[in-house]
Amino acid sequence: MLKVNHVYKSFGEFELNDIHFQVNDGEYFVILGPTGTGKTIILESIAGMYNIDKGDIYIDDLNITNVLPENRNIGLVYQSYLLFPHLSVRDNIAFGLKARKTKKQDINLVLDEITKMLNIKHLLNRKTNNLSGGERQRVAFARAIVTNPKILLLDEVSSALDPNTKREFQINLKKIHKKLHTTTIHVTHDFNEALYLADRIAIINKGRICEIGTPEDIFNHPKTDFAAKFIYGNNLKYGDEDNEQRQIL
Ligand SMILES: Nc1ncnc2c1ncn2[C@@H]1O[C@H](COP(=O)(O)OP(=O)(O)OP(=O)(O)O)[C@@H](O)[C@H]1O
Ligand SMILES: [Mg+2]
Repeated sequence: MLKVNHVYKSFGEFELNDIHFQVNDGEYFVILGPTGTGKTIILESIAGMYNIDKGDIYIDDLNITNVLPENRNIGLVYQSYLLFPHLSVRDNIAFGLKARKTKKQDINLVLDEITKMLNIKHLLNRKTNNLSGGERQRVAFARAIVTNPKILLLDEVSSALDPNTKREFQINLKKIHKKLHTTTIHVTHDFNEALYLADRIAIINKGRICEIGTPEDIFNHPKTDFAAKFIYGNNLKYGDEDNEQRQIL
């Protein structure tokens, strides 16, 4: 379980203001909000890239607020796939495992499994500089997930992809989450993506969380004016299907 406990972080003009939420074990939690509202800063604060001004972050009962990023056991994947250009796909994905001195045969087993799941096994020996956007993003995702992070943070991971590749990538995200149950926070602008993937959604505006709820709550019964305007401005409606049947509308 991840708990973000009344967190504040100021950057002069911009401030994260009393960010408070909890993500349960195995939950897929989506943060949805307009540009410039602090979504990336929330993820980077959880990952430990900033010292927050006030508040605490817990993983289970452990207060990790002052723990170094590399010791938090958190995976972070960005929109722009930050791969090592001089390394092969195999070495990119295995990077974190090698750093942990994982045995070669264990690395091979994990690589085999994840690359089959993401349909990138045939790319293992390629360099990353001439991969397509969708392939690069699957490699970046594989690199984060193979280290078995306690928490996985995804920042607009599909937003640079064309519609078909995006849809495929979202299906991959859902499939892998169903198998591994990694506690995930996924930041997006994309309502369809939020509906398709989220167990719960937080709507954020101007450095504050406006509202947290299930997709059904948020899309059918928004409680705040901002959430209602933000959502109904996008003309989406939520079907009553259960999670399995939920469609990208
Ligand atoms: N290191 C920094 N120093 C100063 N200001 C920053 C810093 N990082 C982000 N900001 C500002 O804080 C605000 C929130 O940034 P953030 O990147 O979290 O937005 P976002 O919600 O992720 O937006 P987008 O959807 O466009 O990615 C922005 O106005 C940004 O310019
Ligand atoms: Mg951002």
